[in-house]
Amino acid sequence: MAQTSPFVPGLAGIPCAKSAIGMVDGSAGKLQYRGYPIEDLAKACSFEEVVYLLLLGELPTEAQLAPFRDEMVREREISFRAIDVFERLPERAHPMTALTIGVSTLGTYYEGDHVEDLALSRAIAVRLTAKVPTLVAAWHRIRQGKRPVPPRADLGHAENFLYMLDGEVPDPMAAHVAEVALILHAEHSMNASTFAARVTGSTLADPYAVVASAVGALSGRLHGGANERVLDMLRAIPDPSPEGVRRWAEDRLARHDKIMGFGHRVYKVKDPRADILQNLATDLFAKLGRTPIYDLAVELEGQMEKLVGHKGIYPNVDFYSGIVYEKLGIPVDLFTPVFAVARVSGWLAHLLEQLEDNRIFRPSQIWVGEKDRTFVPMAER
Ligand SMILES: CC(C)(COP(=O)(O)OP(=O)(O)OC[C@H]1O[C@@H](n2cnc3c(N)ncnc32)[C@H](O)[C@@H]1OP(=O)(O)O)[C@@H](O)C(=O)NCCC(=O)NCCS
Repeated sequence: MAQTSPFVPGLAGIPCAKSAIGMVDGSAGKLQYRGYPIEDLAKACSFEEVVYLLLLGELPTEAQLAPFRDEMVREREISFRAIDVFERLPERAHPMTALTIGVSTLGTYYEGDHVEDLALSRAIAVRLTAKVPTLVAAWHRIRQGKRPVPPRADLGHAENFLYMLDGEVPDPMAAHVAEVALILHAEHSMNASTFAARVTGSTLADPYAVVASAVGALSGRLHGGANERVLDMLRAIPDPSPEGVRRWAEDRLARHDKIMGFGHRVYKVKDPRADILQNLATDLFAKLGRTPIYDLAVELEGQMEKLVGHKGIYPNVDFYSGIVYEKLGIPVDLFTPVFAVARVSGWLAHLLEQLEDNRIFRPSQIWVGEKDRTFVPMAER
């Protein structure tokens, strides 16, 4: 086949869709959902309001938000069959693997034709966004040999998620921080998992298959998995003094080892979500007590700015999210599932958008293999 386009590894900078959901301006450090700055949404909105905005395109009025919130609350429960499936998994299964299985199990209830029926697509988008936290929390309980904690209708989305993890209604500050973290992670334009969601959606696969694909893509350590590794990495810094941190970073950079929580395909300045999370971390530590790993993170950020700031390598959202989640009492291997709890809304907004004007994704390749070889029978090889 004639080559028409140059090969761009990782499709960097190649548009693959027209979108009006999340806008990232990497050089200005801007993130907007449906045109609204993330800073304003994080300050003033509930997660449910942001989900409404992402899925339906506009901020809701009070009269629109109330039934939407009720619908999300009604959809929180998961079938006992999904619990049965979880009970048969090995306890050591990573929560992201369990989540893929949980989402696929919910997909066994899929009925109708979401492609022909926009109301059904939208209803499934709300259903999945509502149920993913319940799946994550249920697996976390079951792997510890405990019964899942049923969702509580009187709690907000983030508050209820924390409640379902350990059966304790969280401190209001912790619930607020978790809610903002979910808002910050809800959408981020054409990242790998969103692309995976759109590719699967473009085949007209059902929304459960779409979310299962996206969860798989998010689980990798270059995407959602990075925040799990940030804490391990910080803990492995042997000398927390400024000189020690600098030596550690220089050594790692000299070996071309990636420093987790830094760098971004799009942002060439500090990720605006990292700034918001850092401010929240400060409030959280003021209320619940300081944590030395945060000081180490701030030191590493300062040293990295001197070492690689000129290359546009700054902290991304994952750098501070792990520190915040740890303070909220969330176990390290749930950090990426928490990302999925938020991002499922963005994936499904992209599915709805993809279906508005769908064409199946079918890129090309550059052939680098041999051609027209003469087949050799087994006995002669
Ligand atoms: C996010 C990430 C995958 C983006 O990748 P990318 O756009 O393909 O960027 P590249 O990996 O090609 O890096 C470009 C240059 O910056 C350097 N770089 C990028 N991120 C780096 C990091 N975290 N630590 C050290 N160097 C980094 C690369 O070594 C490369 O340098 P070179 O040009 O001298 O070879 C990458 O920055 C990374 O792996 N970061 C760590 C994982 C992480 O935090 N992921 C969460 C993303 S939200």
